[in-house]
Amino acid sequence: MRRRFRTLLLATMAIAPLTVMAQKDMTKEERKTEKRIESLLKKMTLREKIGQMNQVDNWGNRQQLEEHVRKGEIGSFLNLPSDFHELQRIASDESRLGIPLVVGRDVIHGYKTIFPIPLGQAATFNPQLVEEGARIAATEASADGIHWSFAPMLDISRDARWGRIAESSGGEDPYLCSAMGVAVVRGFQGESLSNATSLAACAKHFVGYGAAESGMDYNSTFIPERQLRNVYLPPFEAVAKAGCATFMTSFNDNDGVPSSANDFILRDVLRDEWGYKGMVVSDWSSVTEMIAHGFCTDRKDAAEKSANAGVDMEMVSRSFIDNLEQLVKEGKVKEETIDNAVRNILRLKFRLGLFDGRKMQGDKSVQYCAEHLAKAKETATQSVVLLKNNGILPLANSIKTIAVTGPMADAPHDQLGTWAFDGEKSRTITPLAALRQEYGSDINILYTPGIAYSRDRRTEGIAEAVDNAMKADVVLAFVGEEAILSGEAHSLADLNLKGAQKQLIAALAKTGKPVITIVIAGRPLTIGDEAEHSSALLYSFHPGTMGGPAITDLLFGKAVPSGKLPVTIPRMTGQAPIYYAHNSTGRPASGRETLIDDIPLEAGQTSLGCNAYFLDAGFGPLYPFGYGLSYATFRYSDIQTNSKEYAIGDTIHAVATLTNTGACTATEVVQLYVRDMVGSVTRPVKELKGFQRITLRPGESQTVRFDLPVSDLAFWNRAMQKVVEPGDFTLWIGGDSNSRQSVKFRVE
Ligand code: GLC
Repeated sequence: MRRRFRTLLLATMAIAPLTVMAQKDMTKEERKTEKRIESLLKKMTLREKIGQMNQVDNWGNRQQLEEHVRKGEIGSFLNLPSDFHELQRIASDESRLGIPLVVGRDVIHGYKTIFPIPLGQAATFNPQLVEEGARIAATEASADGIHWSFAPMLDISRDARWGRIAESSGGEDPYLCSAMGVAVVRGFQGESLSNATSLAACAKHFVGYGAAESGMDYNSTFIPERQLRNVYLPPFEAVAKAGCATFMTSFNDNDGVPSSANDFILRDVLRDEWGYKGMVVSDWSSVTEMIAHGFCTDRKDAAEKSANAGVDMEMVSRSFIDNLEQLVKEGKVKEETIDNAVRNILRLKFRLGLFDGRKMQGDKSVQYCAEHLAKAKETATQSVVLLKNNGILPLANSIKTIAVTGPMADAPHDQLGTWAFDGEKSRTITPLAALRQEYGSDINILYTPGIAYSRDRRTEGIAEAVDNAMKADVVLAFVGEEAILSGEAHSLADLNLKGAQKQLIAALAKTGKPVITIVIAGRPLTIGDEAEHSSALLYSFHPGTMGGPAITDLLFGKAVPSGKLPVTIPRMTGQAPIYYAHNSTGRPASGRETLIDDIPLEAGQTSLGCNAYFLDAGFGPLYPFGYGLSYATFRYSDIQTNSKEYAIGDTIHAVATLTNTGACTATEVVQLYVRDMVGSVTRPVKELKGFQRITLRPGESQTVRFDLPVSDLAFWNRAMQKVVEPGDFTLWIGGDSNSRQSVKFRVE
């Protein structure tokens, strides 16, 4: 009740034009924009206002489309119609008020030059590099006239069965997701949205979509408010504070309420608590899908609930333009609500410079330019995670013959990954092409796919792959997933390699030749058997246009692996969802549990001394969050904090000595984790609170410092207040989430 009253009070304030206090906080430019918005709003008819809230992908034949634009019944296009310039001219020159159109597109991990999928970019643990990639994507997309990208995707994803884990900016972790999400917003939006190469960013999918039950896309989520606030909302709050221009609602109903009509997240949290002034767009038909949800009776009901909850613009389902005028006449939607939505839309258009002659398109020569391709390669190189190496990598120069095989060795389309609409497979450099280009003159490269594509069950091609292996010094097996097997609407109930890929790796292992397996996929896969069969194992989350040269440099030691897992890799599908920041439970696994094959026959039933684990999979993952090897080795020592006790307002200064005990210069992602040992509610056994990429020469040591404000330990507690609770904490600094070296401290 208390919250509702507060919300009502604040919502009243939020609906009114920006308050004097808010205006006082504005820059001169912002005040000028608000004046322009109010002046334009006063001239608009109700129909023209609602037209701004209408985003279309296409709308009937061209004459109809042009007529709707001329009447001011369309505010935005999704994707770039081929004759967008003409439509924009009509909007600006022939409509009554000349309000320009804004065009959005999914520029998710590059535009023409395709970077690794967001999950791969997360594996770099390098926000600066991710920002540079987003800046490149913005210069390439704006050159074609695009104003707005539907990214970053900030869904915390802890279930690899969910195909959209591929798109997550930070995988399973809120801290990593926040850092990467802010990097993408900064890269897209640049210094000012009105710059010709800037794109408006879009934080999606608001909120909780990644917790789809059983990992099945579009499925319901059941996230209690505390978990929403401690895990799923933080990346969105981070980008809201960083100035992300727009938000997109998610498809899922959470605890029974679809996000596109969820006033708690759209008004109470986004507007009232965070003071967000950007624009909220629905997801594709997510407004009218509330009928199928059983939450709305019809399109008019959907329009009413969604507009009143705080959706400003409706993506393609057109219930707003068809029903809101009537709903205002019936008093079911206040015109003030419409005005506020339109304010948010016009503010976006003013900030983008659309009223001030923003160029229709820019310099296309930047697309695929050498600098962009080099940055894409750098990102791909840092995104690859080395999971196993018995010493065979980097490949020795003495190698004379290499057998290359597997469905992902030469898959230019699939290497780009999901959501790569504008990338061209003709520009992809595959691992096979790169190997031939770089080493074809010195090394005998024997190639056969063995299996035509990742789902191919036919095994007749394996024999030739085995023959080649017998003639080779080493086998490079590229397996994984076609691009279409991850991404939207592509969840899997079984995370094993598809088709006959398992048989291929097993057959290659039987030759006795060293097999180096490179997995190129959009999600974690249960590759335990393949890891067993391989002398070395690399994991590449669909690396994009330059994935081939990146992987080749790593194989031959021209680059040293530095990637770390942004998601946990399970042993078996049944472990999902599985993640490092789990709760302890009352019976935490000790690691010494009896596994299924060790249970004696006719064993007596007992639950005494039993712990939380699976008989057939144990407790732990195959590889933990934050894990990744290098060609060097690193030692952590002397972990300490500057005190054993802290007050709430203090900053914890934590240090560790990192030494490169290997034989090559290498980069380590040093990670800082903290555990709140006892809380008013149960707390995760670890939470990432910092990371740094440190490069050291062989034998070199460096003291790595983290300055962690005690306030960063705050969480939403039993009383639903965001506080730091006094008590004992443990702090780890190490190379992955399983690191053991820790120190303890108290907060008083
Ligand atoms: C899709 C996706 C969303 C995307 C939008 C526009 O259904 O859920 O991520 O941005 O529609 O393509």
